[in-house]
Amino acid sequence: MKLLVTGGAGYIGSVVAAQLVEAGHEVTVLDDLSTGHADAVPAGARFVEGSITEVADALTGTLADMDGVLHFAAKSLVGESVEKPGLYWEHNLGGTLALLDAMRAAGVGRIVFSSTAATYGEPERSPVLETDPTRPTNPYGASKLAVDTALTAFAGLYGLAAVSLRYFNVGGAYTAGDGRVYRERHTVETHLIPNVLAVALGGRESVSLFGTDYPTPDGTCVRDYIHVADLARAHLLALEACSPGEHRIYNLGNGNGFSVREVLDVCREVTGHEIPAVVRERRAGDPAVLVASSDKIQRELGWKPEHLSVREIVTDAWAALRR
Ligand SMILES: NC(=O)c1ccc[n+]([C@@H]2O[C@H](COP(=O)([O-])OP(=O)(O)OC[C@H]3O[C@@H](n4cnc5c(N)ncnc54)[C@H](O)[C@@H]3O)[C@@H](O)[C@H]2O)c1
Repeated sequence: MKLLVTGGAGYIGSVVAAQLVEAGHEVTVLDDLSTGHADAVPAGARFVEGSITEVADALTGTLADMDGVLHFAAKSLVGESVEKPGLYWEHNLGGTLALLDAMRAAGVGRIVFSSTAATYGEPERSPVLETDPTRPTNPYGASKLAVDTALTAFAGLYGLAAVSLRYFNVGGAYTAGDGRVYRERHTVETHLIPNVLAVALGGRESVSLFGTDYPTPDGTCVRDYIHVADLARAHLLALEACSPGEHRIYNLGNGNGFSVREVLDVCREVTGHEIPAVVRERRAGDPAVLVASSDKIQRELGWKPEHLSVREIVTDAWAALRR
């Protein structure tokens, strides 16, 4: 297929673009490089530097030949979204609406969208099901939920074939068949594993444990970690499963919760570094446990995570960092 990957110079988008190229698809990456890196675009993909906020004018022509879009381009820092909500509505919702308009104008009827666990807010139960209430607690989650709502409307009104994948915590690195390694390279890093590994690499002095008095076995928050290679494969399955007039939503985690302390201990073992930790106050809006039920995507699309342990995720991330 001829596919447009928005945000394909970012962490997850570049892994998906690499897997699409490996699967024989013709891939064009559109990215404004606001948080991505031009050298992350796979060699076999075409790169167009630009923003989805301008896509309606700039890219309707390019989209004309396309069979589908994989849409990763977004602002995705929760704290920043609270400080600058307008930026999040503009890029995440406004940009996506511009993209959807350009797709309609060009007759492109298929989209796979990066949604997020943040659409659920503080869930009432664990594991979280797709049918659970969506009550985002920050503009980032709200803007992603608004896109999910728009996709449902576009599917109903215009026959769009759409799949939203709601990711939980993504980690690890992907080594393509040609030996090239794709890894997380966020300038502002908010994710636990890269921040812990940065201490082992000497880039930070210590890691913060936000809250050790949660109602969990060791008092720290429990999260669901998914390997980026498993996550990326789900996009290829979703692309095949897209059906006109239907908007499907799937959670993507590996179904196993790991506490912050467990992740820290694994990082210490894998790196051989003591990794000092400093206990801090709880952060507002951090639920005690956030674990996904991925039963629906496993049942309907046959997706199965291959890297179930945090150790694999940490080992791959660490190896990629030290190359
Ligand atoms: N990393 C995670 O754990 C996680 C979890 C849940 C959801 N997500 C979602 O997955 C997607 C990818 O996340 P990531 O971690 O790879 O982030 P990333 O920042 O590495 O990638 C996002 C890419 O989008 C590009 N971009 C941003 N705004 C753009 C615009 N207006 N036009 C064109 N390009 C633009 C950036 O330059 C970057 O290359 C995002 O939509 C994010 O919300 C990520």
